[in-house]
Amino acid sequence: MKISVCTECDVDKKSLVVFGLLEGDLTFSSDLLSDQEVESVNGLLKSCDFVAKKNSVLYLPTPLGAAKGIVLLGLGKEAELTTKIVRESFGKAVPVVGKQKPEHLVIVSDLLSDAHSAAALEAILLGSYKYEVFKSEVEDQCVIGEICFLSANKRPELAEILKVAKVTTEAANWCRDLGNSPANELTPVALATKCGIIAESDLVELTVLGEDEMKELGMNSLLSVSAGSVEEAQLIILDYKHHDAKKTISLVGKGVTFDSGGISIKPSASMEQMKFDMCGSAAVLGAMKALVELEPAINIVCAVAATENMPGPNATRPGDIVTAYNGKTIEIYNTDAEGRLILADALAYVVDVYKPEVIVDVATLTGAAIVALGHNMAAVLGNDDESIKQLQSAGNDVNERLWQFPFSEEYTQHLKGTDADLCNIGPAREAGTIYGGAFLSNFIGETKWVHLDIAGTGWGMKGCSYITPKLASGFGARLLAKWVLDISK
Ligand code: BES
Ligand code: MG
Ligand code: ZN
Repeated sequence: MKISVCTECDVDKKSLVVFGLLEGDLTFSSDLLSDQEVESVNGLLKSCDFVAKKNSVLYLPTPLGAAKGIVLLGLGKEAELTTKIVRESFGKAVPVVGKQKPEHLVIVSDLLSDAHSAAALEAILLGSYKYEVFKSEVEDQCVIGEICFLSANKRPELAEILKVAKVTTEAANWCRDLGNSPANELTPVALATKCGIIAESDLVELTVLGEDEMKELGMNSLLSVSAGSVEEAQLIILDYKHHDAKKTISLVGKGVTFDSGGISIKPSASMEQMKFDMCGSAAVLGAMKALVELEPAINIVCAVAATENMPGPNATRPGDIVTAYNGKTIEIYNTDAEGRLILADALAYVVDVYKPEVIVDVATLTGAAIVALGHNMAAVLGNDDESIKQLQSAGNDVNERLWQFPFSEEYTQHLKGTDADLCNIGPAREAGTIYGGAFLSNFIGETKWVHLDIAGTGWGMKGCSYITPKLASGFGARLLAKWVLDISK
């Protein structure tokens, strides 16, 4: 899809023109329509109840004009206009636009700032996402070949801003494809293969460690999770190096391609949703996919711990004790608290070998995050408030919001094992999300570290018109890409 910035635009019967309107002043005018049509639109606006309240959408065919039709999009009051409202409104317009199947979409952008225009593009691309890989019959698709942002004045910076929005949003949609893939298709090995597309960049080196190499390196915590599965676990590392980089950061993702709970097996209701338990890894890979295209001046080590968590003859038993990569011993009380076990080795390895300045991990780690925050925001905690604030700010910019949870010694002290250094769960029904994070803090040494628990937002996300709750949301990909771009400026 081509994205253009124009001061004038050729429209024909395959074009649909979107006008954002502010609540209040509803005098409509446009050169793209005949005088007669402008008059009739104004007549309609006076007589109908469309007053451009935010989220209101009205489609009008324009038989006399050059275009196929117009979409009037209410943006609410000017003083209250934010990127969040623009995203929400354009998300509402997506099904209306899709029904008309235009090949060319014109967005009249005089009212929209550059950031608003980027938000509009994001909402259109995210809102048009479908996952139909396995459907034998699909509806006739709406294929928009070009989106033009039309405004009276030249806007020299807009094209670059739209490019970043396009690249990050398409990467988020790629990340959603990974999330939605069923676990029989997206095995750990298949996930590693998918990373090949990111490694096509000359700036990236891809390394995949298999189970033998992990055994050699002493990653017994990660291997204890894959032990019950016939699928081989993979530690996937994408090492992005930029010649002007001044620092190295790391993104680490939980890639449990299916979480049955293992021997501490989950109840069967909704267990099919546990194919989404790799959404943390999809988020970091989505961010990487965008970043290797945008080439910020920073070094990034992206690591994904990919495995299934299955019961099987060789599966880890509750009570088993394993030694992690950093030498710490872990008594596994509950095999369903597996995300922290695989991240333990991934984090310790990255810290030891790559020595990043800051490390951010992303995981669908705890059901408790859903209890606390529902499906609207993700939990964030860590040992570095500055990075947490940067991530929250990036999250607000892309409307992927992070709510900070506490992290301190009061919690870490309760994770001691009876017979080992650590155990893998905190006290029952207490602060589950914080204990999940507190466990991970044993594997980062002195490194600045931030943990994102996206259990509630990786899929089933609520509150965004442009994200369907049934599917993976891509949560984290745009946020992390934005954060990395911000800190590498
Ligand atoms: N993948 C789950 C967390 C999860 C549950 C994400 C529901 C999204 C929806 C994770 O591996 C898990 O099972 N966590 C346990 C931890 C507990 C045993 C301490 C949980 O949350 O119940
Ligand atoms: Mg689990
Ligand atoms: Zn899990």
